Amino acid sequence: MERILKHLRGEPVEFVRKILRAQADDWQRDALNTLAKSARLAIRSGHGVGKSCLQAWSVLWFLFTRPNARVVMTAPTIRQLYDILMAEISKWLKRSELLEELFEWQKTKVIFKAEPENYYAVARTAAKPENLQGFHAEHLLFILDEASGIGDDIFEAVEGALTGTDNKLLMCGNPTRNSGFFYRAFHEDRELYQTMKVSSAESGRVSDEYCKRLIKQYGEDSDVVRVRVLGEFPKSESDGVIPLELIEAAMMREPARQGELILGVDVARQGNDLTAVAVRLGDDCLAIKTWRHADLMTTTGRIIHLLTELMTKHKKSRAELRIDDDGLGAGVTDRLKEVIKERQIAAQVIACHNGGKSRDNRYSNFISEAMFALRERLEQKLLTLPRDENLAGELSTRRFTLNSADRIILEPKSQYKKRLGRSPDRADALALAFAPLRSRAVLPSFVAGSSYWR
Ligand SMILES: Nc1ncnc2c1ncn2[C@@H]1O[C@H](COP(=O)(O)OP(=O)(O)O)[C@@H](O)[C@H]1O
Ligand SMILES: [Mg+2]
Repeated sequence: MERILKHLRGEPVEFVRKILRAQADDWQRDALNTLAKSARLAIRSGHGVGKSCLQAWSVLWFLFTRPNARVVMTAPTIRQLYDILMAEISKWLKRSELLEELFEWQKTKVIFKAEPENYYAVARTAAKPENLQGFHAEHLLFILDEASGIGDDIFEAVEGALTGTDNKLLMCGNPTRNSGFFYRAFHEDRELYQTMKVSSAESGRVSDEYCKRLIKQYGEDSDVVRVRVLGEFPKSESDGVIPLELIEAAMMREPARQGELILGVDVARQGNDLTAVAVRLGDDCLAIKTWRHADLMTTTGRIIHLLTELMTKHKKSRAELRIDDDGLGAGVTDRLKEVIKERQIAAQVIACHNGGKSRDNRYSNFISEAMFALRERLEQKLLTLPRDENLAGELSTRRFTLNSADRIILEPKSQYKKRLGRSPDRADALALAFAPLRSRAVLPSFVAGSSYWR
């Protein structure tokens, strides 16, 4: 018996087949095998693909194959936790006489009959962090169902408990929002997790009719379809310029870290705005640097400092600075040119006018064209982005409309700020850094501080 248990510890698919007498779907098999090998697994998916079922199986497998195992389950709602997850556990526990002999299902927990105090699975609501605190064990598994809906404070309690070698975390859900730990698990915290995505459209468990109806009602690219069917995080904007999906993909690609060094600078206009600097190296944006509450001189000083630091770090003998020269940017541009000349830094300052003329007359101004050019690069996978949650948030919420002359115009910053209560400074700095300027072929030999582009 001991030997079988040890064997099944590494073979959850076999456990499901032999003990529960169930057949795992392909993705469930992958998920189980991954869970057996790793400490943290995050799965986002559409509706009805069998996530709760997978979690119930994982609970039973963990209990069955570890002595004094502890499993802690949580979900955003009582219904999700008891009526769905605990019910699913009950359903599968009943499939096995052996399991039923060893374990007893109760409404809020499953206990090992011979040692109920130390060996159990318990369901706790995600109402307050205390509910999930104080669990430590050699064999410990946390299950977070519909994880997008669970608060970060709850997650912190869970994460704090994951200290032992055989401590695991399995979290599943529809990716309903672009923030929180579940979102981060697929973005900036991605290196901490094994991740999976499962689409309802590909799952044999969800009717084609359900998927087709949703797509017909809302469109394939709508948030509801993304989240409920495709297992994609929401796009948030129907009239957005850049869908979140493209941004996500760019953040997952590896940067090549070669090419020209270009900084795109969006200078803060008001108290709460940020000055944002997008650091571009060839086809990569390596970072977005930001700061607040700085006067013109301080801002200039910081840009120069950043510039020289980056030139040294990336061994570049020259660089380019692109600054939105409208409004306060103008003062910064002038001062930068002076300093660059004084200090003989081989950098060219290019004053851009976000509100000024575009090259292509389908766009009403420079920044509108630049933002669409950025989208095109993302579509063609010609750009990598840093894993910056704020950048993703800002980029995916930039909207456009058509003006009276039928030209594409990006929602003015002032309007964006009214709508979302923040300024899309990072997004605009990035657009500047990658804006298609006039062909480089006509550039005369390098002149420091040239105003050639004006
Ligand atoms: N491999 C499987 N074999 C048998 N039944 C399954 C399997 N996967 C899922 N189910 C069942 O399908 C139904 C829907 O699955 P569920 O886990 O609730 O989906 P989700 O949580 O992704 O919305 C449940 O009744 C579940 O027991
Ligand atoms: Mg479920």
